[in-house]
Amino acid sequence: MATPSPSATSAQNDPERESEPFRFPPGLQRNLPLYLFRRFFRPGNPILLFEHLAKTFGPVSHYKLGSSNIVFINDPDLIREILVTQASSFIKERTQNRMKILLGDGLITSEGEFHMRQRRIAAPAFHRQRIQAYAGMMVERAAAMRTGWQSGQTFDMSAAMMELTLEIVARTLFATDVTAAIREINDEVNVIMRLYNYLIALPRAESYLHWPIPGLVRFRKARARLDAQVYRMIAERRASNEDRGDLLSMLMAARDEDEATADAGRKDAAPQTGMSDRQLRDEVITIFLAGYETVANAMTWTWYLLSENPAAAERMQREIDDALEGRLPTLDDLPRLRYTEMVFAESMRLYPPAWAMGRQSTQIVELGPYRLPAGTYFFFSQYILQRSEQFYPDPLRFDPERFTPEQKATRPRFAYFPFGGGSRQCIGEAFAWMEGVLILATLAQRWNFGMVPGQTVDVQPKITLRPKYPMMMVAKERGANSARLKM
Ligand code: HEM
Repeated sequence: MATPSPSATSAQNDPERESEPFRFPPGLQRNLPLYLFRRFFRPGNPILLFEHLAKTFGPVSHYKLGSSNIVFINDPDLIREILVTQASSFIKERTQNRMKILLGDGLITSEGEFHMRQRRIAAPAFHRQRIQAYAGMMVERAAAMRTGWQSGQTFDMSAAMMELTLEIVARTLFATDVTAAIREINDEVNVIMRLYNYLIALPRAESYLHWPIPGLVRFRKARARLDAQVYRMIAERRASNEDRGDLLSMLMAARDEDEATADAGRKDAAPQTGMSDRQLRDEVITIFLAGYETVANAMTWTWYLLSENPAAAERMQREIDDALEGRLPTLDDLPRLRYTEMVFAESMRLYPPAWAMGRQSTQIVELGPYRLPAGTYFFFSQYILQRSEQFYPDPLRFDPERFTPEQKATRPRFAYFPFGGGSRQCIGEAFAWMEGVLILATLAQRWNFGMVPGQTVDVQPKITLRPKYPMMMVAKERGANSARLKM
């Protein structure tokens, strides 16, 4: 679509234009619940609704839920307007308040000045040079997993990838072998997640969280046990005052550089205090939860796609064999594992773990030919846009070649955005790419994975894009090539 360039300044600042009427995009005639009831009878799957909106109304569409205006966007240039060009006119949508029940005021849920300060403080912990130190540990955990399988064994790939990525993020956060604590944390998280999916479906869930209803009591207890574990780790680390080079040490040592620079030379400047225990708890739980389920889902879908596309799997294994000559991968091998990276990229195109994003406008916004009131909700979906014929011919075909540098250069920036964009782009992106490629190389070096026949595969769009059913796979040890392996 040829979109007239919207003004980058807010229309609200111009008193003459403030009284201009709103201009809404085309969309649903009925309020959403009634529409869904009549049309789909399946209010549970928002992907169906988004697909329908994009197909029927094009790049921008509008509907109402109660008195709220909701705009669905399926156009890379307009997504850039929201995430980058006009980002100061938007906050993350109100559903974040419900995520605060679990995440507190961590990086994902905080807003404005406070978020910017936390992001500045946490950034050094995610710099490329720092996260490179985790590569060896990622490979070590994947190598431990690959020695545990028997040829011909069937297992749930989704559960295996959750276990692996959970261990990796826990060890990068806490450095030590925290296996027992991880199991406990994982159990609490599972209880919380089961209940959480109901909690976030309820309006204003945060206001009756203290009610003595059994499900809510269980949620509160699990959250309290999770908090106790995290606070214990923080207290131990404060007591030992030891820098283990892990994320927790870095978050504890972090000082806001901007404040330090502003204070430099001032005699009365207070010593930089870094994060309080409460802030550390919120960041640790945020990074922990953001850092494993997303990667686990990305890995599971990648193994599924490789099992359906054996030619791509063979090409990836040839690259791995040539680059590694039988030894385990290291950080330095990453430049030689480009096809493996393209496989991972193409998998996140078709099955993006963060499958949709939202923002809410804080002032009147002009977007293309439309003029929308403050308080409007905007949604856009990686899942829908990254399957668009316009940017990806034959979009359902798995084709890693779409991610050669030449092919990438033909598409607008926001035709592919699994990690979001703008000032709130995923802080763990480099971590996730490194982890994904190293896990693929380590496991595919020794094993082929095939789907157990007769399974139904479908997506389950929760907070992340999970497979709806267990992903049962058979592990087959690679014959001739495995002779080349050195352990
Ligand atoms: C394949 C893996 C991953 C995907 C697809 C993913 C996706 C995303 C997306 C789309 C956002 C932006 C959300 C928004 O703007 O509304 C985000 C933010 C975030 N991600 Fe990731 N993520 C992944 C892995 C990770 C990892 C490994 C970590 C940490 C170790 C992490 C930590 C975070 C944090 C802290 C934020 C909030 C950043 C902020 O608002 O300043 N993510 N992620």
